[in-house]
Amino acid sequence: MIQEPKGKLGILTPGMGAVASTFMAGVIAVNKGISRPFGSVTQMGHIRLGKRTENRNPLIKDFVPLAKLTDIVFGGWDIFEDNIYESATNAAVLDKTLLDQLRPELEAIKPMKAVFDKRYVKKLDGHWVKKANTKMELAEALMEDIRRFKKENGCDRIVIVWCGSTETYIEPGDVHSSIEKLEEGLRNNDPAIPSSMIYAYAAIKLGIPYVNGAPNLSVDVPAIIELAKQTKTPIMGKDFKTGQTLMKTIVAPGLKARSLGIKGWFSTNILGNRDGEVLDDPESFKSKEVSKLSVLDEILNPELNPELYGDLYHKVRINYYPPHGDNKEGWDNIDIFGWLGYGMQIKIDFLCRDSILAAPIVLDLALLMDFAKRSELYGIQEWLSFYFKSPQAGAGLHAQHDIFVQQEKLLNTLRHLMGEELITHLGMDYYY
Ligand SMILES: NC(=O)c1ccc[n+]([C@@H]2O[C@H](COP(=O)([O-])OP(=O)(O)OC[C@H]3O[C@@H](n4cnc5c(N)ncnc54)[C@H](O)[C@@H]3O)[C@@H](O)[C@H]2O)c1
Repeated sequence: MIQEPKGKLGILTPGMGAVASTFMAGVIAVNKGISRPFGSVTQMGHIRLGKRTENRNPLIKDFVPLAKLTDIVFGGWDIFEDNIYESATNAAVLDKTLLDQLRPELEAIKPMKAVFDKRYVKKLDGHWVKKANTKMELAEALMEDIRRFKKENGCDRIVIVWCGSTETYIEPGDVHSSIEKLEEGLRNNDPAIPSSMIYAYAAIKLGIPYVNGAPNLSVDVPAIIELAKQTKTPIMGKDFKTGQTLMKTIVAPGLKARSLGIKGWFSTNILGNRDGEVLDDPESFKSKEVSKLSVLDEILNPELNPELYGDLYHKVRINYYPPHGDNKEGWDNIDIFGWLGYGMQIKIDFLCRDSILAAPIVLDLALLMDFAKRSELYGIQEWLSFYFKSPQAGAGLHAQHDIFVQQEKLLNTLRHLMGEELITHLGMDYYY
């Protein structure tokens, strides 16, 4: 049984920097009729239903009972006290003329005090931070924030999407292996529990859907996955798929589909926003690097195709370059080979806008995770892999990275949940 979305949906983001402010300002601009939600698959994308001859192609938002954009209330946490108008102004993603038209609404969105420990994000320092003796007390304070926000804003439901900074790389360990050990670790201030995991624990304990937009471990450990099952909460991560990885997962499946070989793929990024500054720290970059490198292996499957992809040299670099601001430049040099081994090169220079690509993903994920919860789905939501660089998968399963496989999985899951026939592209019209 899918419950209808009634009343208001609160979307809370731990981290209210460039991505979160671009997302919030964007939804408000759309609601005011100033702009359109380009890039949002739920708002602008259609879904084919039934046979091609039936001509049923509704917009996804008209097919699936999603919350309306006008029913969304925004909130969140940050280590800086700036309201969303100030944060969006600092991020300099959106024009000042647009922000000024939204000023009263944006100024009203103020961050709650963050759970933050500099050990996990070395390049940041902020004072708008909660103080407590233990990490468990911090989790309880976050739960209190969520309850209060829900009540004060008259929300029917809440979804949380992590839009905070990338934390230093942490390997999953013993403290992450079960709920009991994680809770003991929270009480004993275990250093292997970073701030993002405290937010995740608090949300999931309350049964609130949780999305992880960064490569942080966060909801990708057995303890949190177990907790999500226990509290029947949908979870998904990691790391929004934007920019260079989006291009990679569009181009690589096409080359593989035509059995073209790849010798090397060198990717470098220059960006100058706060995210770029955080990623300038080698320990934060390590989290990002792991997330970005996994993509090609899964798509190309070198074990199965050693002649085509066995010797592929894959390198990813991120360079902090302040003059570019949020306008990232992603360069790819791809050395490919074709018939009889003759070499060719592809160069991609994607002059993208990071937060412009990420904002609609935040919106889609918040709406679809709320829908998942109302559809009684819980645990890892693999059908939302489409939106992630390093999608979580069930135990023992490989993540799917090919964007077209991910898209089919997303659309077929929606068809299935809504009682429509799945589309396999194997209709009788192929046979004589
Ligand atoms: N923009 C993209 O295309 C993209 C793609 C994939 C992932 N991401 C990830 O999304 C996240 C946000 O990116 P951004 O460009 O908005 O970065 P940003 O630096 O502008 O914003 C992050 C915000 O999080 C805050 N923060 C850090 N730790 C926090 C904590 N513990 N609690 C609350 N707030 C905290 C920071 O103060 C900052 O305001 C980053 O982790 C980034 O790697 C972004």
